[in-house]
Amino acid sequence: MKIVVLAGGISTERDVSLATGSMIYKALRKKGHSAVLLDVYLGYEHEADNIFDVDRDWSENLGVISEINPDISAVKALRKENPECVIGPNVIAICAQADIVFLALHGQNGEDGRIQAMFDLLNIRYTGTDYLSSALAMDKAISKELFHKYKIPTPKGVTVSRNERQILDVWNIFPCIVKVNCGGSSVGVYRVEDADQLESALEKAFAFEDRVLVEQYIEGREFSIGVIDGRALPLIEIAPKVGFYDYKNKYQAGSTVETCPAELDANVTRAMQSCAETVYRALRLKTYARMDFRMDHEYKFYCLEANTLPGMTPTSLLPQEAAAVGMNFEDLCQRIIDSSMEKYK
Ligand SMILES: Nc1ncnc2c1ncn2[C@@H]1O[C@H](COP(=O)(O)OP(=O)(O)O)[C@@H](O)[C@H]1O
Ligand SMILES: [Mg+2]
Repeated sequence: MKIVVLAGGISTERDVSLATGSMIYKALRKKGHSAVLLDVYLGYEHEADNIFDVDRDWSENLGVISEINPDISAVKALRKENPECVIGPNVIAICAQADIVFLALHGQNGEDGRIQAMFDLLNIRYTGTDYLSSALAMDKAISKELFHKYKIPTPKGVTVSRNERQILDVWNIFPCIVKVNCGGSSVGVYRVEDADQLESALEKAFAFEDRVLVEQYIEGREFSIGVIDGRALPLIEIAPKVGFYDYKNKYQAGSTVETCPAELDANVTRAMQSCAETVYRALRLKTYARMDFRMDHEYKFYCLEANTLPGMTPTSLLPQEAAAVGMNFEDLCQRIIDSSMEKYK
């Protein structure tokens, strides 16, 4: 097949997306596909006709870009024209030549449904869930409302807007978590020990977004569960050596112990898998996703969120879970393509 792997962009998760994109690109080439790796923001400044006939290793190009500077303003400076336009030169023209676009984007403008909606209108096929479910899952407050409706356990929490600070007078659950409503990769997530720290944590979070979630901190263990075509994979347990699962612990090798399949009682495991499958249905998800969970000392578990474009390097969580059922990274990429093509039948 002719496949464009779309990565990069200008979200706070740009670097993670580039890592995911180049690994998917290599896996697809190994599988015998004709693949092009493209940065959605920087695009391709050269002749774009018959792009699949161009013989080159696209991952080299992308590697260089991410090393120049992951700083978003520096990335924007690399664009010759219209830096505020999220879609780079020739991106649409190149994607239109593909049988399917493999979305390796993360965060804003990639995971939130907007790219998906644009592709729907342009009649371009893409991997993963559709625009509506992407938007529902990206918005943690709306996800929480649906979790309540479907009786999916989730930590107690409230949404705070920049101009409504009454929360500071009434919130009395500590420790708590302050996190941006539509974030990812733990960017804009803070653990708060007491009332004194709450205001400054909110201030830091508001630097990213106008809406912020304050949530009861669930002391205990952390798990994640991938779901493909509505069926849960084995659980993976995530245990950071220091602190919580923040940006550093997510992406610095060796800072977190990951165990898959997680060592947990079979009944609790099955209950959490079944809960992840309910989350999949509640958020109208299609193809694949990965749900994050916390579990307290009484084995009570809580769903934090669903990730519709989870990290996809061979050492990312979902690929580790797939490996636990005998599906290697290349096969997982292929499975995602096959399952995504089903959307268009
Ligand atoms: N209510 C909570 N209790 C305990 N830890 C939390 C809670 N909410 C978030 N965290 C921690 O912060 C991390 C990131 O939060 P999450 O809601 O998954 O957002 P994202 O991954 O989109 O940044 C989690 O993996 C977890 O370690
Ligand atoms: Mg998460």
